[in-house]
Amino acid sequence: MALSCAALLGLQGLTGCDGAAPAATQPAATRPAPAPPAAAPASAGATYAPREGHPLPSARVLTELGRQIFFDASLSASGRMSCASCHDPAHAYGPPNALAVQLGGPALDRPGPRATPSLRYLETLASFSEHHHDNDGDDSIDAGPTGGHMWDGRAGSAHAQAGMPLLSPDEMANASVDDVARKLAASGYAAQMREAFGADVFDKARTAFDAAGLALETFQQSPADFYPFSSKYDAVLRGQAKLSAAEARGLAAFNDERRGNCAACHISSVTPDGAFPLFTDFGHVAIGVPRNRELPANADPAHHDLGLCGPLRTDLADHAEYCGLFRTPSLRNVALRGAFFHNGRFHSLEEAVRFYAQRDTRPERWYPRDARGRVQKFDDLPAAYHANVNVEPPFGGPPGGRPSLSDAEVRDIVAFLKTLTDADLVPVDGTARPR
Ligand code: HEC
Ligand code: HEC
Repeated sequence: MALSCAALLGLQGLTGCDGAAPAATQPAATRPAPAPPAAAPASAGATYAPREGHPLPSARVLTELGRQIFFDASLSASGRMSCASCHDPAHAYGPPNALAVQLGGPALDRPGPRATPSLRYLETLASFSEHHHDNDGDDSIDAGPTGGHMWDGRAGSAHAQAGMPLLSPDEMANASVDDVARKLAASGYAAQMREAFGADVFDKARTAFDAAGLALETFQQSPADFYPFSSKYDAVLRGQAKLSAAEARGLAAFNDERRGNCAACHISSVTPDGAFPLFTDFGHVAIGVPRNRELPANADPAHHDLGLCGPLRTDLADHAEYCGLFRTPSLRNVALRGAFFHNGRFHSLEEAVRFYAQRDTRPERWYPRDARGRVQKFDDLPAAYHANVNVEPPFGGPPGGRPSLSDAEVRDIVAFLKTLTDADLVPVDGTARPR
């Protein structure tokens, strides 16, 4: 994950990420204070060309503007929904409730198509690539499709992404870019936007809309808010805390290639270049999560959310080998969630982990039976794509065989996963927030 600062942030000079210092590859808490900006203009290396004759605001100004925009419910058609309604800071910028999908739209009654992800620990998420070569290890290995924002990697950056919820009819449901720009111009921070981007920022709707996107993107790169690295496990990695016996057994099972093998995708150790682990490699994988019949879209048996190959993502529709693949999420703060996987199919962390252990050995627990009583494995994927589903450990084993993890190991892994909750989200008694 040794990406350059500019590649990580696309915002060099705006985020205290200058020169060759690999700041973003170190845990925030151990990172040296950013050097004061050198003589180079703040816009040097930025992916956003400053508009001629206009200031390019500093990271600090953008962060504080972005924070206000993120929490501003007046930017929605309902007037009652902000980014934070779905991405709640008290839940690691993930959903505040256990609904499989959140409700949005003008009357806040339209279910979205997918579970809302946490926005923490996305700071090194690179844009989508079909052929990812890891520069940490053997770079001749093609790790396959990796990265990109959203469960299917379809948004190139948080900036490209920000426009989607503002305009999506299932989310903030604004009619147009003009609509959003008008609301920004009427907001309490309109004067700050003029000061930051120039007095004419509201002259063109697109300019104001893009300015808001830049502010949101920069806010989402703020270390204290989005990547504090303050969990118990981080303290353990720093040698400042010790795992309990159950947590340590859970970590061992999580890492063991023949039992959990979780770390194959949810990286758990410090990377070769010293970065604290994000518990994801951002790779896209099909694991055969059961169909969620709670989702209204699934009332239509012909409807399938196939991730990379569509229908939300459209550019890879002719790649049958990508059907059913979704981006591996970080497991940091996962104990705060009330709905798991892209379709929110599971509502208990223990069940989500047990699914891994018993998907192939106890399929009847997870999948429905057809009219003739046969278990319909991978019932959320048309049969043509079943071969895309991963069968490495913890998966595998014959029906009725021994699960890769015992129930006690499943519980130990859950105990370990609870050590990944950031300190600001753990109540003082040390337990994760109850759900
Ligand atoms: C109605 C709920 C809702 C609202 C409001 C909402 N989001 Fe999201 N957000 C989602 C869902 C659901 C996804 C995943 C969508 C997908 O994968 O197709 C998502 C994904 C994202 C992602 C990508 C995360 C990743 O892991 O790649 C970012 C960034 C994001 N949202 C930022 C925002 C911002 C900024 C706002 C406000 C302008 C916002 N969201 C408003 C539900 C919401
Ligand atoms: C082959 C890669 C791979 C392995 C191995 C793996 N995972 Fe995952 N994990 C994923 C992917 C991909 C998803 C998202 C799948 C989806 O939503 O369709 C996921 C999702 C999850 C989620 C849901 C998180 C959320 O935000 O909804 C949990 C919990 C989880 N994994 C835990 C584990 C545990 C525990 C293990 C080991 C027993 C494990 N994973 C092994 C790739 C993997």
